[in-house]
Amino acid sequence: MTAPPSSSDANAPAQHFEVRPFAAPVGAEVIGLDISKPISTEDFARIHKAHLDHHVLVFRCQQITPQEHIDFSRRFGPLEIHVLHQFQLKDHPEILIVSNIKENGEPIGLGDAGVYWHSDISYKPKPSLGSLLHAQELPSEGGDTLFADQHLAWESLSPELQQRILPLKAEHSYLAKYEELRAKNPWRPKLSQAQIDQVAPAVQPVVRTHPETGRKALFVSEHFTTRIVGLPQDESDALLAQLFAHSVKPEFVYRHTWAPHDLVFWDNRSLMHLAAGTPDHLRRRLNRTTIVGDTPF
Ligand code: SIN
Repeated sequence: MTAPPSSSDANAPAQHFEVRPFAAPVGAEVIGLDISKPISTEDFARIHKAHLDHHVLVFRCQQITPQEHIDFSRRFGPLEIHVLHQFQLKDHPEILIVSNIKENGEPIGLGDAGVYWHSDISYKPKPSLGSLLHAQELPSEGGDTLFADQHLAWESLSPELQQRILPLKAEHSYLAKYEELRAKNPWRPKLSQAQIDQVAPAVQPVVRTHPETGRKALFVSEHFTTRIVGLPQDESDALLAQLFAHSVKPEFVYRHTWAPHDLVFWDNRSLMHLAAGTPDHLRRRLNRTTIVGDTPF
C-alpha cells in the first residue's frame, strides 16, 4: 500500500469539522471545514481517511477561488492537464470547465462530460486518483451526479464470476466513444494528431486493488472499456455488458444534488460516476481538477 499524501500545513490551527456519512451506499458530508483556510496536518489526515472510508466527500458552500481549488487538490497529488485544452480555465490549465453554456455561439466547457458511466482518465496508464468538482452555476432542475461503489460491485459478484474475471485485463480508450459523442454534439472539437497521440489506449486489470486500502474494485466502464484482452469479440462484448449492468445497480449508487458552491471530491479508484443530465435550456457550470493516480494492479 502507498503512503498517504504528504503535504500539509503543520502550523495551521485545527478547524473542528465533522464527517457525517450519508444514508447511501457511499458518501459523507464534511461539515465545518473551510477549504480556503490553512488545513493542519491532523485535519488533512482526517480528510484523507474520510475520503478512503466514504469514497465521495461533499464540502458545502466553499467560496474558493480557482487557485484555492487547485491548491487543495494538489495536496493529494499532481494534477492532470486534460487533453481537451480548449476547455481549460484561462490561466489555470489544471482546471477543466464542465459546462453546457455557450458564449457567442462557442461552448465554454465540456458540455457532455460524464454522459456515460466512467472512472476519470482510465484510458491512460496512470488513471486518476480522484477528482474535485466545484459548482459555479447550477440549473434550477436536473444536473445531478451519480456515484457507484465499485468495491460493492466486486464484492457482490458470484464467486464463480469473481474467479473468472480476476486474471483478466481490458483495453480502455478515450477515442472509443469520441466520434459518437461528436456526432451528437458537433461543438466537440476535432482532435489534432498531437491530442490523439496523448490518449493512446491503455490496458488495465478488470479488477483493481485500491493502493491505499487494499480493497478490490471492478474497473471497467461503458465509456472507456472497449474489449477484454484475449477474448473473442462476441464473448468480450457479452461479459462487458454483464459487468456494466451489474456495476451500476441502484444499491451501489449515491446521487448528488448540487447546491451553490459545493465542492465534491471522489475517489476514481473506488467509484464510477455519471452526469445525470441537464435540460438544454438551463445553464450549468462546474470547475474540475483531476489528481493523477498510480498504475492499477
Ligand atoms: C465528470 O464526468 O467529471 C462530470 C460529471 C458531471 O458533470 O456531473
